[in-house]
Amino acid sequence: MRWPPFKLERFFAKHEFNVDYVLCASDCESMTVRSLLALEPGAADGFQGLWLGYTESTGSPELRGEISRIYASIHPDEILVHSGAEEAIFLLMHAVLESGDNVVVQWPCYQSLADVARGLGCSVTLWQGRWDDGWSFDPDALGDLVQANTRIVIINSPHNPTGAHMSRVAFDRIVALVESCGCLLLSDEVYRESEYVAAERLPAACDVSDRAVSVGVMSKSYGLPGLRIGWVATHAVAVRVRMAQLKDYTTICNSAPSEFLATVALRNRGHLVARTGELIRRNLLLLDDFFARHNDLFAWYRPVAGPIAFPRLVGRAAAGSATAFCERLARDAGVLLLPGDVYDVPNHVRVGFGRRDLPEALARLEPFL
Ligand SMILES: Cc1ncc(COP(=O)(O)O)c(C=O)c1O
Repeated sequence: MRWPPFKLERFFAKHEFNVDYVLCASDCESMTVRSLLALEPGAADGFQGLWLGYTESTGSPELRGEISRIYASIHPDEILVHSGAEEAIFLLMHAVLESGDNVVVQWPCYQSLADVARGLGCSVTLWQGRWDDGWSFDPDALGDLVQANTRIVIINSPHNPTGAHMSRVAFDRIVALVESCGCLLLSDEVYRESEYVAAERLPAACDVSDRAVSVGVMSKSYGLPGLRIGWVATHAVAVRVRMAQLKDYTTICNSAPSEFLATVALRNRGHLVARTGELIRRNLLLLDDFFARHNDLFAWYRPVAGPIAFPRLVGRAAAGSATAFCERLARDAGVLLLPGDVYDVPNHVRVGFGRRDLPEALARLEPFL
């Protein structure tokens, strides 16, 4: 098994903590432990009294109970908690795939959704979205890609990096396709609950199909990436059992302080989602104005859901590579944009707009342009 360097994470490793403004984060505004504990009477005392032994490998019953409330049909025992969505994706693929299998993935994508499968010796077929079509993903085209040896179809909506979001009709057709083919649907739902219009929220895939695994995380819509708490939710018992066995070889169980804090956070989920939603909506309007002012340098595609957008560099800005543009911006202005090259989509940059300091970051970016 061989995994290539994770281009996005390597770029962040180099720059994230060396700039003044991270204008490309996919996570939303975070908070201090103190602010989180203040959401609930008695939580600070409970945290101080927390026992720091090993925790239950599947995740604490309290945490799984709170996670299950995100879903309509999931029992707490149908949740398996992990160290971030990243571990969940890694173990899910290891649990299900064998060398020679095929995986179909919505593309462009977060690299591990394709490369963990490749590392296991699987072929990966890309279900491509296209900028020219407004980043739409055609379910008919997906049907043509599924082969006899396809084990997993992978979707991610709201989508990283484009900000596209599937319609309910398209989602239902994908679920029907997966059920008719007998493969598994991996639905990466880490940006769920950051839709701009609540009515556009899709059901969690695990609630509509026994062949689906929903992946969730504390990092994005709830703004708590430092907890490193993610999970899978699924009725597919064999998948969960196999993943639990594999987890004994990676992290065994989760961090006790993180589980405690995640439980408090999810009991106050409505508050966290509202807080993130307000920032996203405010910042998106600022981006609309910003990109209208700079349409000689960026072609703006207004995202449909989630905290990230993927405009295209045009004119003078497209003279060199997106990586060169972003490296220069980081060095000269202390502002970080993410080059589309890390997704193998040249001439685009990823913008993240879930953070409070976006106005200051734009004020720094403007004179650089
Ligand atoms: C689509 C998608 N899936 C999974 C992850 C991993 O999430 P985490 O880093 O919180 O484990 C990310 C992170 O950016 C993501 O964008």
